Amino acid sequence: MLDLKLEKKELPFAMAEEIKNLRTGITFCGADIKTVLFTSSSPNEGKSTISLETARSFAELGKKVLYMDCDFRKSIFKYKIEDGKIGKGLTHYLTGQCDFEDIIYRNYGRGDAEFYVIPSGPSSKSPTELLASKRFIELLAKLRNDFDMVILDTPPLANVVDASIIASNVDGSIILVEAGGMNYQIVQKVRDKLASSGARILGVVLNKVDKSKKGYGYYKYGKGYGYGYNYGYGDSR
Ligand SMILES: Nc1ncnc2c1ncn2[C@@H]1O[C@H](COP(=O)(O)OP(=O)(O)OP(=O)(O)O)[C@@H](O)[C@H]1O
Ligand SMILES: [Mg+2]
Repeated sequence: MLDLKLEKKELPFAMAEEIKNLRTGITFCGADIKTVLFTSSSPNEGKSTISLETARSFAELGKKVLYMDCDFRKSIFKYKIEDGKIGKGLTHYLTGQCDFEDIIYRNYGRGDAEFYVIPSGPSSKSPTELLASKRFIELLAKLRNDFDMVILDTPPLANVVDASIIASNVDGSIILVEAGGMNYQIVQKVRDKLASSGARILGVVLNKVDKSKKGYGYYKYGKGYGYGYNYGYGDSR
């Protein structure tokens, strides 16, 4: 088993609370929801931040959790790969260059006893084909069996179709939307793209909510940037 130290920044109180609410929301979607994908329409809306924190939050409950970085183009582990702290990743595995044991890292951070990660690996020439491959589908089945919860971070759907391909093979998908910066029609397109691939959309997370502004009726506390969620699209509940 490989080890990896992930930095853990202390989250602002309001954000930590909302992450817990999101965790509860996912849990209430049903016991059969074990592989959950996060995507958004555009870059920078907060997929990696929120998906990693959500995964960590499940781990803090004592669950055996995996965070899988499926963004081959913009991995959150880029610097660790350059530092040599991470060797092999998902693309190595999917192209048959290594075994499963070579890509799974156990995070030995505080309170994350059962928190594992799979980094994306170097950008591949044909990521779409890799994500549609039998090897990837079989990997998802294995992970679903081995872990209590698997969280998948993916690229924005407006740019590439990767997320919708993965979405057809996971239990549920969550759409991240950056508050204020979103275009309603674009978010609808993302929802339609996901839904047409057969994805089960669990809900929409409204991220980077400026709580100092009026208009977000359900935010009555806190100032500055924060995070909120709102189940409201598709098959959400
Ligand atoms: N709730 C939040 N409050 C404040 N800053 C946030 C919040 N969520 C994300 N950010 C910041 O926004 C930036 C983009 O976040 P992140 O990398 O998670 O987005 P992303 O959707 O994964 O981007 P990409 O599409 O490039 O992969 C980061 O600097 C992150 O720290
Ligand atoms: Mg990201």
